[in-house]
This record gives sequence, structure tokens and C-alpha cells, in this order.
Amino acid sequence: MNIRKAVIPVAGKGTRFLPATKQTPKEMLPIINIPMVHYSVMEAVESGIEQLIFVTSSGKGSIENYFDRNLELENFLEQNGKIKELELIQNVSSMIEIITVRQKEQLGLGHAINCASPIIGNETFSVILGDDIVRGERPATKQLIEVSKKNNGKSVIGVMEVPNAETYRYGIVDGEFIDDKRLTLLMKAMIEKPKPSEAPTNLATPGRYILSGNIFECLNEIPRGVGGEYQLTDAINMLASRDEVYAHKFDGDRFDTGNIEGFLNATVEFALRDESTKELMLNIIREKIKTYGIKR
Ligand code: UTP
Repeated sequence: MNIRKAVIPVAGKGTRFLPATKQTPKEMLPIINIPMVHYSVMEAVESGIEQLIFVTSSGKGSIENYFDRNLELENFLEQNGKIKELELIQNVSSMIEIITVRQKEQLGLGHAINCASPIIGNETFSVILGDDIVRGERPATKQLIEVSKKNNGKSVIGVMEVPNAETYRYGIVDGEFIDDKRLTLLMKAMIEKPKPSEAPTNLATPGRYILSGNIFECLNEIPRGVGGEYQLTDAINMLASRDEVYAHKFDGDRFDTGNIEGFLNATVEFALRDESTKELMLNIIREKIKTYGIKR
């Protein structure tokens, strides 16, 4: 069974990036010249996803527009012989079929995903957070799809190792490894932000999920949780008590661009990884070190 659909929730308020997010969706803030949500869409395309569902809210129209055609700009670029730029923007608008659904009130990630249920039906589908970038040789979502396929289309939660002292910043997974390489676990539970002394593992959940259609029953049953929001974690825990849920350590570097530290880190790292900006960024860093020194 193929996993054809991905949900990208982009309806949040992005309060950590105010005042920019008063007017611009957080997911449209660019890492250099590419909006962060572009990376999530690219990951879906590279993972074989055929249909993408954006969960949006008011003020997020620029995300839809970004992935749509802009004929005026296309004509302008063509008339001015800017063919490379023309191809660049045409590639963005022809990436994948996109459907949008509205989350009318921002009641949490679980609620946002539940808004996509009429379009998903009972299929197993993928969730990719629009403010979380994972870069690696193989798309993270593709790796999780492979594990789900091997396990009869069951749910698979993407996990990555974090330093033991930092478990309080993440959702942490508890479970038993089922393979010799110690990459895939049968999940027992997911615990939100445990203290290091109470964390069962150091495996954190950075916003990549394959979920079976049964998740919607759970999303309909869970009460409001932390912060009065419908938490995806609560629904996944309910699902794990009824059905097999796996967790898989995917390969790749993760950038949590939903906060300022992760956003800065991605900006510097992506500039260094790109040959056209690498020297520029290194020179800037060298100059800044001369000016500001390094604190030890
Ligand atoms: P975050 O909690 O990181 O995003 O949710 P946020 O709420 O927009 O940001 P802050 O905390 O106020 O700064 C992760 C992803 O889930 C979406 C967000 O748009 C983001 O891409 N989300 C979150 C929704 O779609 N709906 C919600 O109710 C909450």
C-alpha cells in the first residue's frame, strides 16, 4: 500500500517570531532565499507523496500563493530574458498537487491534523511540520514510509537522538528496539518534555510522522491537554495503547527553524553548505570574530 498524502500544518501563530509573524507566516520566513516550508514540500515530493494538504488559517494566503503560478512575474521574467529565474519560479509552482483546509481556531497540532481528516479518509498518511527542516542523503519521510510499509502500514514516529541533558525540550519516546541495528522500536509511549532524570530514552520526536487512519478516532476522543490544546502526543499515546506504533531513528540533520536559535543555525549552516555562498559566509564569520572575539 502506497502512502500518497502528506499533511503540512501551517496554521500556528508563530509567536516566537513576532513582530515578523504579525503579517508574514512563520513558515514563509526564508533561510537565505528559500522559505522554510519549501523544504517540507520538497521532502514530501522526494518521498513520493502525490498530494499535499496544507492546514492553514487566516493570514496564511502567501503560502498558497507561493506554490501557485504568478503569471505576471513569469511574463516579466520572460520579456527581460531572465530565463534561469523563470525556471526557478515555474519549478516551485509545479512541484505537487496542493489542497488547503482551514483550521478556524488554533487549538493545537492534534486539532490541526484532525482538520485534514475529510481529505485523508482512512489512509495511512505522512505529517511534515512546516517549520522543521531535515536535510540528509535520503528524505526523512521516505525512510519512515519504508518502515511503515514493512510493518503493514502501521504508524511510525520519526525520532532522533538528543543529549540526555536536553530531554526536557522534546517529546521523548519509550519503547523496545525490534531490529539488530537498533533503529526501529515498538513504541510504548511518548512523554512530553521529561526531566533528564525521568526520561526513558534520549529519542526525541522532531516533527516527522507516518500515521494510520485510526489516528482520527483518537484525535476525536482526546480531551484538551497541555495549554488547553489538542495535543498530537495524547492521540499517539492513545493509538499506541490500541495498535502497534513504531518509532524509527532516521538519518539526517534536523533544524528546528520554529525558534530563533534553530533559524540562525540553519541560515549559517545552509550558507556554508552551498558553494556559491560558502566563502561569503566564512569571510563574514572571520570578520565578526575579529570584531567581537570569541568568549571561552
Ligand atoms: P509550533 O507550536 O511550533 O508553532 O507548531 P506555532 O504555534 O505557530 O509557534 P509559536 O510557538 O507560537 O512560536 C508546529 C507547527 O504546527 C503548526 C504551526 O503552524 C507549525 O508549523 N500548528 C500549530 C498549527 O497548524 N495549528 C496549531 O494550532 C498549532
